[in-house]
Order: sequence, then structure tokens, then C-alpha cells
Amino acid sequence: MLVALSETKVQLPESELPTHWYNIASDMPNRPQPVLHPGTGEPVGPDDLAPLFPMELILQEVSTEPELAIPDDVLDIYRLWRPTPLYRARRLERAIGTRSRIFYKYEGVSPAGSHKPNTAVAQAHYNKQEGRKRLSTETGAGQWGSALAFACKLVGLECKVYMVKVSYEQKPFRRSLMHVWGSEVVASPSEETEAGRKVLAEHPDSPGSLGIAISEAVEDAASRDDTAYSLGSVLNHVLLHQTVIGQEALKQMELAGAFPDVVIGCVGGGSNFAGLAFPFIREKIAGKEIDVLACEPAACPTLTRGPFAYDFGDTVGLTPLVPMHTLGHDFVPAPIHSGGLRYHGVAPLISQLVLDGMMRAEAYLQQDVFTSAVEFAGAEGIVPAPESAHAIHGAVEVAHQADEAGEEKTILFNLSGHGHFDMAAYDNFFAGELEDVALDEAEIERALKAIEGLPQPA
Ligand SMILES: Cc1ncc(COP(=O)(O)O)c(C=O)c1O
Repeated sequence: MLVALSETKVQLPESELPTHWYNIASDMPNRPQPVLHPGTGEPVGPDDLAPLFPMELILQEVSTEPELAIPDDVLDIYRLWRPTPLYRARRLERAIGTRSRIFYKYEGVSPAGSHKPNTAVAQAHYNKQEGRKRLSTETGAGQWGSALAFACKLVGLECKVYMVKVSYEQKPFRRSLMHVWGSEVVASPSEETEAGRKVLAEHPDSPGSLGIAISEAVEDAASRDDTAYSLGSVLNHVLLHQTVIGQEALKQMELAGAFPDVVIGCVGGGSNFAGLAFPFIREKIAGKEIDVLACEPAACPTLTRGPFAYDFGDTVGLTPLVPMHTLGHDFVPAPIHSGGLRYHGVAPLISQLVLDGMMRAEAYLQQDVFTSAVEFAGAEGIVPAPESAHAIHGAVEVAHQADEAGEEKTILFNLSGHGHFDMAAYDNFFAGELEDVALDEAEIERALKAIEGLPQPA
């Protein structure tokens, strides 16, 4: 069944929901280097991770099987909003006057409003199965926290969320949403953990960061037997769970009679990007020509300006050492409005693919990103999350470049979430109060001192 190219959206029936997650570790030219124990410098084993994660997720983390079956209980919950629609952005194409075709996969139709429930539901499921009662986590923009709150509610677990202070203040209704789903939420840095108290003692006005909030959530989980830690991005198993996005998009593009020349996503820790891009990178490894583009904020340019190094995943240094592009674990990004992109590192799988030339990255200023977001909302109707707007801006830039070169491209991007809880950011943009923050070289040099003396990748 080919959907005529004149259709606006391509919907898959529930029967087409993927039954497996795709594991790119089975196909990539070079697998990521091992995660190291900070004390011994040796690769961490399953037993090191067992206090924090259920064994099923630890096994997924190191799996090299090409596909992993999605449990029926997880599929049952996915069916509440999946498969998600794929749109042809015909109105946007007209608005920007491009000859290229632009498609987007829309993950904002989930109950929490983003792609994050794809992994939240899976993680809650495996924790419940292993007998944990409670999960702790961090959240930047509040998207991940609300996704995990939703998943814990449906699966039957308690949930505690450490929310980066600047977002806690900017997004009170994300907090309310987490309360509706029964979770406890505190602003991070908080007085409730050693890690939080340490940061507050040195920087009483700290706006918080994802790295600090991760330290707090890890400490919470490590100090209680009934609690596991849950991370919304970066780790292999999180990226794995998101691959339902790209698998659906492959089928939908085929139904639309098109195949992308360019696949685009925004990158914080890398999960929505990976979710869309990895099934297409499998096609690229098999010989298809695809330009794969990651979009990040100029205020936190991890992939474009951070070196590839071993670094801690959190600020205080409680996690293992992860091989990744990093700006240094004590780097606190400026409080830009894309809270979910304010992370000093990025997923090892994505870092390795960048090293191997399988994909590339660009960094954008927030004024440009919001200009594209408003243009998109005016054409397509959907108000995007500021994070997702980086991917929109990337798509608009690629379309303009193609026009200038006299080319027509097929562009596919991930619209990872809606921005209904981000209206303060839009208000600031219209009031002319959004600051463009491009990181200066001296701050990068300062922040990278934090990784001096750590092991070097081979
Ligand atoms: C809507 C949205 N998109 C993207 C991101 C970035 O995270 P990731 O890189 O893991 O997709 C977030 C993080 O909170 C988000 O809320």
C-alpha cells in the first residue's frame, strides 16, 4: 500500500508496532570502548551495576544481539500512543520556499508529550519484574521526569525526581504533571543528598544541571535497597528502547514512497536522535547513502567542541567513567531554554559513530532555533519543545543549503516533543529577552581540567 505523496500524514496500524528493539552494537564498525570503574580503571561488570539497575537492563547494556524482543506488557502500554504519526511538512516547505521534501516523525503524541516514555515504560517494567518498589531519577526540562512518573504510575512503582532548579522554576506545570502521576519532585541541587549539599555549599545560587541532578538521584538509589536508579538518556539500553521510532519511520517513509537523503535529530544525551537515526544508520552501513545530522545548542556544544575522552556521567563523580564526547563533568551550561540539552556528555554509541564518520553534528544559537520554532508553529500548527526545535532548525538549514546548491533533498527529522509546558521560553523570545550564549574557548579549557588525570580512550 503506497500512500500518495499528497497525503499529509502517514499512520501505521497498531498491528505494525515494532515487536523488537534494534541494537546498533551488532552492526557498527567499532563498538564503544568499555565503561570503566573509577577506582580500579578496569571495565565495570554486571555486579558493579546491580545495586543501581535491574539485571535485564544490565544485560541489554552489553548485548550484541541484533534485536531484542519487547515484552508484551511494554507493548500493551506503547499501544496507548504508538505507532506515532509521520508528517509531510508541506506547509513548512511552502513557508520557507524550498524545493526539498521535509518529513517529520512526531513523538509529542505520547501522554507525557515526548519520546521519553518509550524507555520509561521499559525501565519501569524491568524494575517491577525484579521486585524494586521505587525509582529515583533526574530531569532537566521535566520531560524525562514526567515520562518516568507516567510509567511508574501505570506499572505500579513509586518515583522520586530531582529536577534541575532552573527548570523547576521555569516549568511549574511539569512539576504538577509529575504530581498527577504520583511522583515526588524536588529542585536540584537539594539539601536532601550529600551531593546536593556539597554543590550548595560552594554555589548557593547554582541553577543546577543534569550532571548535578544525576549525582543526587544516583546517591538516593545507592543508599536504599528498595530503590533503583533510572536514566532517561545516554546509556545503551535507553537508546535501544527508542529505536521503535526509527523502525516505524522506515516503514512510513516507504509507504510515502520516499527515502531520506538526510536524517536529523536534536541531541542532549542522544536518545531521541538515536531512536530515529539508528535504524537508518543500519541502512547506511548496508550501503545506502544518508547524511545523518545531530543538532546541539551552541551553549552546550558537546559533539562539535568537546573532545572524545573518559569522563564521569555526573558532576560529583559517582558514576563509572564513560567513553564519550564531553565538556567536562563539572561544566554547568548556561541556563538556556532547552533544559534537556544541557548535558556535559553524550551517549557513547553516538560518540563512537561520530568518531567513525558515520554521522556529523552542528551547534545552533537559541535565537535562531526559536525563530525556526515559531516559523514551524505558524506553518504546521504544532508548538515544538525548544529541544526539538534544534532539529527543526537543522532541517530548515539543510533545505536552504540544498536550494542554494540547486538540489532537491528528502529530509526527515525527529520532532521529539511538544512545547506546551515551555511557553515561558516563547514569552521570553517574543519579549526579546532570550540571550544567545556561545561558549567561549577559555571556559571549555577550564572545564576540561576536570578530566585531566582520568584514563584515556585507546
Ligand atoms: C522533547 C525533548 N527532546 C530532546 C531531549 C534531549 O534528550 P535526548 O538527547 O536524550 O533525546 C529532551 C530531554 O529532556 C526532550 O525533553
